Amino acid sequence: MPAQSLDGKGLSERIIADLAVRVSARVTAGMTAPALAVILVGSDPASGIYVRNKRNACLKAGIHSILYDLPVTTTQAEVLALIGELNHNTGVHGILVQMPLPPQIDPTAVIERICPGKDVDGFHPYNIGRLAVRMPTLRSCTPYGVMRLLAMVHDDLKGMSAVVVGSSNHVGRPMGLELLLAGCTVTTCHRFTHNLDAFVAQADIVVVAVGKPELVKGAWIKPGATVVDVGINRMADGSLRGDVEFAAAGERAAWITPVPGGVGPMTVAMLLENTLLAAQLADAAIRVDLDC
Ligand code: GUN
Repeated sequence: MPAQSLDGKGLSERIIADLAVRVSARVTAGMTAPALAVILVGSDPASGIYVRNKRNACLKAGIHSILYDLPVTTTQAEVLALIGELNHNTGVHGILVQMPLPPQIDPTAVIERICPGKDVDGFHPYNIGRLAVRMPTLRSCTPYGVMRLLAMVHDDLKGMSAVVVGSSNHVGRPMGLELLLAGCTVTTCHRFTHNLDAFVAQADIVVVAVGKPELVKGAWIKPGATVVDVGINRMADGSLRGDVEFAAAGERAAWITPVPGGVGPMTVAMLLENTLLAAQLADAAIRVDLDC
């Protein structure tokens, strides 16, 4: 029987509608709306679209968004100085620097400069570390969005075999930590993995985030598995394709995310949830200063 669709778009819309209610209650109670500063450096067309989607979603949730649209020639020192100012601006609750950055700017230095309490992407080593020691606070948006999708179709993930394909800092690694936190037996596969097909074939849950169109073949999928495809690859004809062979995988899986309309909208919804949480942490004076 063909797989059912794991509808990230629908779930993200429900989450954003719920956030709008919570933000409105906050404002009615006399508190400020959460505010998100978005830094975009250069004019990469895909980044421009992502940033526009994030700003539109903020608008729907009642979250204030402030865009810093900087030229491609911006230096690393200039970006770090702006982040430093935003770290100390109590009117800003969340800071997001859109990736990728131009080559003169080191993304690691940028991520580490963001105060962990305002790191709404959940990329800072402090926040990844909290997830690693089972104290998640601001969680990486894509992996957390995947967990919310999985929660729609699985009451309990304990004991399930989960395979993550891809070991990036932003998705694969925190994804493995999220699944481990949920009680899965986790295997992370990467470019040096031998016999990827054999790992995928024994997994109850497969999450793929490699950025290679249709790397994971449908025939590898265990019958009845749940397949989450984080990849969005633009093909020469302009169409979008995931990292999984969608039609063939859908013949074997029980659940599969579409591309687009699966994980992407959930990343945005989790960004907004993190921004509200960052505002709540600031209200409660739960501050993470470190070296901000
Ligand atoms: N570029 C592509 N996805 C993301 C994301 O989730 N956050 C940031 N900051 N940049 C991105």
